[in-house]
Amino acid sequence: MKKVLVTGGAGFIGSNFIRYALKTFPDWFIVNLDKLTYAGNLENLQDVEEHPRYRFVRGDIADREMIRSLFQEEKFDVVINFAAETHVDRSILDPSPFLNTNVIGTQVLLEAARAYGVKRFVQISTDEVYGSIPEGRFTEISPVQPSSPYAASKAAADLLSLAYYKTYGLPVIITRSSNNYGPYQFPEKLIPLMIRNALQGKPLPVYGKGENIRDWICVEDNCRAIALVVERGRIGEIYNIGSGEERRNIEMVRYLCRILANRLNRPVEEFESLITFVKDRPGHDYRYALDSTKIQTELGWKPLMPLEEGLRRTVDWYLEHQDWLERVISGEYREYYSRVYERGWR
Ligand code: NAD
Ligand code: TYD
Repeated sequence: MKKVLVTGGAGFIGSNFIRYALKTFPDWFIVNLDKLTYAGNLENLQDVEEHPRYRFVRGDIADREMIRSLFQEEKFDVVINFAAETHVDRSILDPSPFLNTNVIGTQVLLEAARAYGVKRFVQISTDEVYGSIPEGRFTEISPVQPSSPYAASKAAADLLSLAYYKTYGLPVIITRSSNNYGPYQFPEKLIPLMIRNALQGKPLPVYGKGENIRDWICVEDNCRAIALVVERGRIGEIYNIGSGEERRNIEMVRYLCRILANRLNRPVEEFESLITFVKDRPGHDYRYALDSTKIQTELGWKPLMPLEEGLRRTVDWYLEHQDWLERVISGEYREYYSRVYERGWR
């Protein structure tokens, strides 16, 4: 049995990854360590919470003592570090939690991994560390030029991870993916926020002129890529994970309006009229674009979900889970943890 520590598993990508990994790898025992910040929601993993190869631990990756004793107890073979503060806009308002979790927390994990002889440490990073690129695509050897405090904290974590590889020989691998979409994404990010506001008849706030470009990848495609990297990635390497599906924000929002109109049998103008251009995000990166040739040629990965189909499925999921959206917005989901875990039901 392989002991795998997944940090941040109650968040968007982490919860999708745990579900995927429990199905795909019968020899993995997964410990999900999550602080349960505003973005961590155990309801995302309700269907696996009694799985015999799954354990949840509430904790902060920056808590040295707790991390040390967890590593001692569990003797992890693999660490996959998803835990992070992740929202650019929040990092602009207050960078401190980003430094604490994304930088210090990663260092605490790296140190524990070193002390307890972890065989693979996969650091989940982002294309945002490269900054903006007006044309062409970033490869893994492009310099890091982060723009936001979020991206700077993730770049710092990447550099520390690589330093642990070079200095101490810690078996580190880094993945840098583009913008993910899919089920269980906290509705502060573009896609679930637009869907939720549209359903509520609220304005759809598009920053600046909506011309910024992102590469959008379906979360399942990213999970598959991360799993391949965990299994077969080369130590000390970075792997970009992008779909090549680049769209302007305004195109994305208009497309979401069209899907909603179609699904709800309402005129598209009803949703499009909600589009509101608002003040731009400070330091807003114009374009992200990744060259993912390396993971494609070395590990045989390729994205399988075409963007339009993925967005249709994503809208359908949020339409079927409007109660989830509302519980997340209201903070009601927090009661779930105390009801189910603190009272010792699990
Ligand atoms: P998310 O915000 O949905 O989830 C983050 C999770 O980490 C939450 O469950 C939260 O409770 C937990 N967490 C936060 N601070 C913690 C701490 N100190 N200790 C333990 N747990 C803590 O994030 P996400 O979108 O799932 O992103 C996961 C990872 O993927 C992040 O490292 C992020 O930088 C990276 N990433 C995300 C995207 C994207 O589009 N969402 C793209 C590229 C890379
Ligand atoms: P976001 O989902 O926050 O991801 P990131 O900033 O990590 O790329 O935003 C995606 C794009 O959408 C980004 O260019 C900012 C833009 N955006 C809006 O125009 N309006 C919004 O309300 C949000 C949340 C994002």
